[in-house]
Amino acid sequence: MKKPQRTAIKQALSAEQGGELCVKGWVRSVRRGKDVSFITLNDGSSFSSLQLVLSPELPNYSLVSRLGTGASLSANGTLVESPAAGQRWELQVSEAQILGAADDSYPLQKKRHSFEFLRSIAHLRPRSNSFGAVFRMRSALSFAVHQFFHERGFLHVQTPIITANDCEGAGEMFRVTTLAADQPPQQKGTVDWSQDFFGQRTGLTVSGQLQAELFATAFSDVYTFGPTFRAENSNTSRHAAEFWMIEPEIAFADLADDCRLGEEFLRYMVTYALENCQEDLSFFNQRIEKGLLDKLEALAGAEFRTITYSEAVELLLKAQQTFEFPVRWGCDLQSEHERYLTEQVFNGPLFVVDYPKQIKAFYMRLNDDRKTVAAMDLLVPRVGEIIGGSQREERLDVLRARMAECGVAEEHLGWYLDIRRWGSCPHAGFGLGFERLLMYLTGMENIRDVIPFPRTPGHAEF
Ligand code: 4AD
Ligand code: MG
Repeated sequence: MKKPQRTAIKQALSAEQGGELCVKGWVRSVRRGKDVSFITLNDGSSFSSLQLVLSPELPNYSLVSRLGTGASLSANGTLVESPAAGQRWELQVSEAQILGAADDSYPLQKKRHSFEFLRSIAHLRPRSNSFGAVFRMRSALSFAVHQFFHERGFLHVQTPIITANDCEGAGEMFRVTTLAADQPPQQKGTVDWSQDFFGQRTGLTVSGQLQAELFATAFSDVYTFGPTFRAENSNTSRHAAEFWMIEPEIAFADLADDCRLGEEFLRYMVTYALENCQEDLSFFNQRIEKGLLDKLEALAGAEFRTITYSEAVELLLKAQQTFEFPVRWGCDLQSEHERYLTEQVFNGPLFVVDYPKQIKAFYMRLNDDRKTVAAMDLLVPRVGEIIGGSQREERLDVLRARMAECGVAEEHLGWYLDIRRWGSCPHAGFGLGFERLLMYLTGMENIRDVIPFPRTPGHAEF
């Protein structure tokens, strides 16, 4: 007789009726008894594991019932109603095959491990409860990103990873080169990049925005969702050197339209998680951030407030709290300021708009006061800045003047200026850090714990 195909444990656990099936997975625990033994088996398809019931009649009973945590196992049997509390089904095993044994040096034994320790075994941590939940959420939410834009008719564009442009102008690009590291060709005392692979100096992208703008001036509504890289040496719990960013770009739109899209997008993500990731979310709610579910439900219906940067500075100057970084008009808002505003003053999501031009990138549209630009940051409690965006400068002369002011050379940006030469139109967009979103939705406190293999200063081992 043909053996049944593998059934995912998630499917087995939600079966309508019992029957014969085959499951495969990794052993979470073994309880050995005199007349019967139990194994909990998990295959990553759901948070819950399936209980296997083994009787001594199995030909390899003594081996299987001595399996270590982490071993991989294939089991055929009958799904029957479970007498045990908290689970509907269990599997009466008729045949078990050990696929890969694991001895007691397996680092993920039953006890609870610190996230720090689990980071040092990033190759095994996906098999733990917490990281199983994180990476299932990550996958579900990544799908939801595409669904959100697809439903709204946005074009998905893949922007390049290797680029010659430092979009943010912050000098945080990783270099991409095939020149010899020890003896690069020189010209007039500096490296001669014209001899490099691309004939110019290139690096890994810090943002897909500039190219997304080009596509928005042809397809109106577009988005890109890909990896971005920043060689910024800030060892914080919210910064990674490699992270994923979602960047919509919309034509015929101003800053208010941009904020509306950001709000709608965040609300959609929260609602999607509440509706589709219940099991994992309830784990986060119990074990990672108490009250998470209430917070997310509140956010799904919350009013997003908007204040200007100048109003934010006034609120900070009036605060009954001393900050490590003193505040004055013109300074960049630090994480402590952002968190004070969104947590203490507004206790909810907050758009801050119209920042001083000198602390923002060259492409943001100059406001009529000529001191501020049409920028927006969305701040949320606990995470701080989750979205950064702006209306773009569509006026060629103003843009060129801003580039000169910011020291951005026109040499490699002729194409960017061209779309202001022919058929220029008002447009806007934003970038949302996918990991920051996941931190917000899961309650995880460190960005290293929501990305499969984190890259931070000093770390790229896995
Ligand atoms: O504010 P940023 O630097 O904006 C841009 O890159 C624009 N070009 C986006 C656009 O308008 N299309 O970054 C956008 C978001 C931040 O709000 C934050 O969520 C995330 O990207 N981000 C990081 N996430 C993790 N690690 C880092 N080092 C990050 N830097 C930014
Ligand atoms: Mg920003």
